[in-house]
Amino acid sequence: MFLRHETIEKNVILMVVLTLITVSIGGIVQIIPLFTIESTIERVDGVRPYSPLEVLGRNIYIREGCYTCHSQQIRPFKDEVERYGPYSLAAESMFDKPFQWGSKRTGPDLSRVGGRYSNDWHVAHLVSPRAVVPESIMPAYPALSTRRLDYADVARHLEALRAVGVPYSDAMIANARADLVTQASPDADPTALLERYPRAVVGKFDSQSESITEMDALIAYLQMLGTLVRFSDLPPERLRQ
Ligand code: HEC
Repeated sequence: MFLRHETIEKNVILMVVLTLITVSIGGIVQIIPLFTIESTIERVDGVRPYSPLEVLGRNIYIREGCYTCHSQQIRPFKDEVERYGPYSLAAESMFDKPFQWGSKRTGPDLSRVGGRYSNDWHVAHLVSPRAVVPESIMPAYPALSTRRLDYADVARHLEALRAVGVPYSDAMIANARADLVTQASPDADPTALLERYPRAVVGKFDSQSESITEMDALIAYLQMLGTLVRFSDLPPERLRQ
């Protein structure tokens, strides 16, 4: 046994070939099972694709570079869970293309910011962060309130997301514009919207403006972050820290 091992150790080519074979076996054992299970991400009740208004809000979040200061990923550590809430599940960002986990926290994590503040707080904060948090170093985004949201092509955004695997139905794409307007109008009947996008937050998010602004879309997005999964409904083993 040891003598044969000496042959391997003294022959560099043989050693490389055998090493490669060993490493490939390890790789195959790890990777092949991932192709045979239907999905590597466990589905969790409540997670749904973004509504049209949320999609455009998310695009603004990306355009403005919010991800350069804010993460959207609560790690499974006690300090993070105590500060931000239940740690992030893979399923919660399964329709995030591209994902917004981020790698820097100049500001706090935003993955569960939905519902934490009122719409008016968000407007005041985005227009002038230091008006509400005096020590804040966040940049101000007052232009979002005056810029009308361009949503003429919102259906095409949903189609593009469907092309990369987000399960938007034909009805969702056909009704994209109508759904967007409904979500930003407190007086419209939201029944059909809520059937397609359960738990969507409906209302006029930016009360300072009559028309639908970029601020409306961004706040609609912020207000739904982390609100889709009801953690009280999940079995305790999913929540172990
Ligand atoms: C230069 C870094 C920076 C950028 C860029 C930035 N923020 Fe912030 N953000 C902060 C800091 C710091 C705080 C904490 C102080 C405060 O509340 O203003 C914060 C706080 C927040 C909060 C409150 C979070 C909480 O739990 O209290 C929200 C919401 C928020 N930012 C949203 C945004 C959005 C949306 C954008 C993009 C339009 C953005 N931020 C861009 C640094 C940044």
